Amino acid sequence: QITPVLLCGGSGTRLWPLSRKSYPKQFVPLLSDETLYQATAKRLTGANGTHAFAPPIVVTNSDFRFIVTEQLQETGIDPGAVLIEPAARNTAPAILAAVLHAHANDPEAILLVSPTDQVVPDPAAFRKAVAAGLPATDQGQLVTFGITPDRAETGYGYLELHARPDGDTPVPLKSFTEKPDAATAQEMLEGGCHLWNAGIFLFRAADMIAAFEAHAPGLLGPVRRAVDGAQPDLGFLRLDPTAFAEAEDISIDYAVMEKSANLSVVPYSGGWSDLGSWEAVWQEMPRDEAGVAADGPVTAIDCRDTLLRSEADSLELVGLGLDNVMAVAMPDAVLIADRSRAQDVKAVVDTLKTKN
Ligand code: GDD
Ligand code: MG
Repeated sequence: QITPVLLCGGSGTRLWPLSRKSYPKQFVPLLSDETLYQATAKRLTGANGTHAFAPPIVVTNSDFRFIVTEQLQETGIDPGAVLIEPAARNTAPAILAAVLHAHANDPEAILLVSPTDQVVPDPAAFRKAVAAGLPATDQGQLVTFGITPDRAETGYGYLELHARPDGDTPVPLKSFTEKPDAATAQEMLEGGCHLWNAGIFLFRAADMIAAFEAHAPGLLGPVRRAVDGAQPDLGFLRLDPTAFAEAEDISIDYAVMEKSANLSVVPYSGGWSDLGSWEAVWQEMPRDEAGVAADGPVTAIDCRDTLLRSEADSLELVGLGLDNVMAVAMPDAVLIADRSRAQDVKAVVDTLKTKN
């Protein structure tokens, strides 16, 4: 059995005003009736080659605990456990908590850690890739999934292969570089031996614990105490707040992956987007010949390469003569921005914070 670990603690600020601190993008129906979180849970259910998926372990914070269980219930999937982080400490402590919890219940546990805010258009292909990666876990490998890069993105991790990727069987990794600077990203793109890290990891729980022991031993004590001292609360498992607060705030990529030697990658070509910005959403949405993506009560007249989206039923959003603009309306806030500024929406949230 493979136990999915669903990470849903992030707040997705670059998708403001749709994604909010109180209701982040993974819980919003962005591209269909389903939320990204629900689609992720469904993708990781049922039989898969030689291994079936076990009920998932969900790791989230207290604010999202009811959203997480309600949305899972709508899909008919029962969570194996819902771990509540008392404070956001980034992905390394969150993943380690899930790993220790799973390992305590089953020392042989195999885990698949997945973000819940990504779009994977071909679930069957993705499940095949997971099955392809499984044999490498028998060899004690930490398996990553690699996406062919099409730009010098600095917001991702890069997986270095020994040779240009060929096929989709797992191959050993030479190195892992988290979020390179622009010049390095450009070199990696041109060299042809790097893939993007999808942020999805497959491994035996025991091997990940060993990786933390070797590369981030300081996290083990606090997180182990947080898991051992966890309090059951109405079906949730609340990690001990005092112990968890002592864990360093660091991502799994910096804490473990960059330093590990036992990494493999399954090259994945079935389509993937982390929907990190409105630009990425525009790319994924259906568009007309003029490149206009429209959703909700909106009207576009003579617009080009533009995103118009209204989540407010009583608010008609009209674009006239727009070129490369993104406009997103919520009942209480509207964003209008040049498409080239998609990454800067994060700064909008910071600016608004200081204002209020
Ligand atoms: N439970 C929990 N707690 N989840 C968290 C926390 C936390 O404190 N912080 C982040 N997450 C969740 C996010 O919601 C997201 O689903 C996932 O963990 C990854 O976190 P991000 O903050 O989105 O990471 P990133 O995008 O900067 O980088 C990671 O993903 C890239 C691909 O999208 C890295 O793994 C990169 O190497 C990778 O390329
Ligand atoms: Mg991300």
